[in-house]
Amino acid sequence: MAKITKLDDIVSLCKRRGFIFQSSEIYGGLASCYDYGPLGVELKSNVRKAWWKSVVQMRDDVVGVDCSILMHPLVWKASGHADKFADLIAECKKCNVRTRVDHLAENAEEHTEHISLDIAEAAEYDLSNKVCPGCGKIGQFTEPMPFKLMFETQMGANVDDSMMLYLRPETAQGIFVNFRNVLDSTRVKIPFGIAQIGKSFRNEVTTKAFIFRTREFEQAELEFFCQPGTDDDWWHTWKDLRFQWYIDLGIKKENLRLRDHAGDELAHYAKACVDVEYKFPFGSGDWQELEGIANRTDYDLRQHQRGMRTLNKWYETKGDLTKIDLSDEAEDYEKGPLSYFDEEQKKRFIPYVIEPSAGIDRSTLAFLVDAYDEEEVKGQKRNLLRFHPALAPIKAAVFPLVKKDGLPEIAQNICNDFKKYFNCFYDQKGAVGRRYRRQDEAGTPYCLTVDGQTKEDGTVTVRERDSMEQERISTDKLLGYLREKLDI
Ligand code: GLY
Repeated sequence: MAKITKLDDIVSLCKRRGFIFQSSEIYGGLASCYDYGPLGVELKSNVRKAWWKSVVQMRDDVVGVDCSILMHPLVWKASGHADKFADLIAECKKCNVRTRVDHLAENAEEHTEHISLDIAEAAEYDLSNKVCPGCGKIGQFTEPMPFKLMFETQMGANVDDSMMLYLRPETAQGIFVNFRNVLDSTRVKIPFGIAQIGKSFRNEVTTKAFIFRTREFEQAELEFFCQPGTDDDWWHTWKDLRFQWYIDLGIKKENLRLRDHAGDELAHYAKACVDVEYKFPFGSGDWQELEGIANRTDYDLRQHQRGMRTLNKWYETKGDLTKIDLSDEAEDYEKGPLSYFDEEQKKRFIPYVIEPSAGIDRSTLAFLVDAYDEEEVKGQKRNLLRFHPALAPIKAAVFPLVKKDGLPEIAQNICNDFKKYFNCFYDQKGAVGRRYRRQDEAGTPYCLTVDGQTKEDGTVTVRERDSMEQERISTDKLLGYLREKLDI
């Protein structure tokens, strides 16, 4: 495999090494859906764990939740998603391909990703010189029209009591609607955060190649509640913390940047947003968002206080969200059920929210691509993944030097022992050099080889992946040695 210079290289690396496969591949695949293979599932799980460790476990001021994907439809009315969460699309009159208006460019190479238009602006937007990505015709588009991004589904078997629901387009709303529950069941005090990792769904118009923009994806989101007026400082704090998280886990600094959203790019709930972007090594350098850190103000909690008051109306209209007008609701929000009473200041307010929202799939891919390396060793090419130990799918591999003299039994015992603590892999097949190479390709930080000397003095060879340096460590010190190196 040559150095990664195009998207196809990444796709092929992911497939060959068992990281990521096309979903339903034996049936020709399902567009925009992907499955994680044996190494991919471990890598992704480690990315999740690293996020949780940094955002929840290591902090005194963040707790976690795990909410359902299906939620009451009023959640999405209140959050604004039912009315506003749409892309503006135009259809090519020649080939009928529909494209997001903000993705249409004057030539095929141009990227216009960061324009965000509302419906009124879109009517004015000049498409006369834009190129259809389907057939290449210029300016042959219908008027822009909104295309709803939420997936709809039906709950219940009976016509009378079945209900249209949405698959959640962000995990954040599960946190907002549990704000009161968490306050009442724990001893958290503002400032504090609630974190969640889970799947979200968006019926994207244009899905980007591979897992950069998929319709089903995993988010790791923190909603950090703070007093109004302290929100700008917290936004800066979380921006720095989240940027550093990627660096600490091995992403090269030159491949990472922060990009502030322009005003017309902000989501309907945000006062400010900055993206952490990764420079994927293909094309002319393809910067992709890994995470957004938004200041959502008190928008969501206020909206849910309004939404809660519309429940009767929702029953009366048999769940017709279009008949519910949240602007009818009274404005005494500071005392509402989702307000917070600060005991020390004897003051009640609706908290502001800073939201770091990371894409687990995109980050997983960025860690994979950034770790990929190839070098020449003694005239031979060595491919390796220089994963941070916390992310490596397999932490250590154990080999008997030869398949005889009781060495396999000793190696197998060591491996079984270590499996209680971390992923450990036993391999006795082929020359030991080839076994090292296989583990280099999987990104395994340490290989342990049991040989004749092990039987004499109880030591094994420990070979480090990046430097390929070897040292002999006594088997009774091995577990402690590895746990310290691996930080687990
Ligand atoms: N919760 C922010 C987002 O889903 O983009």
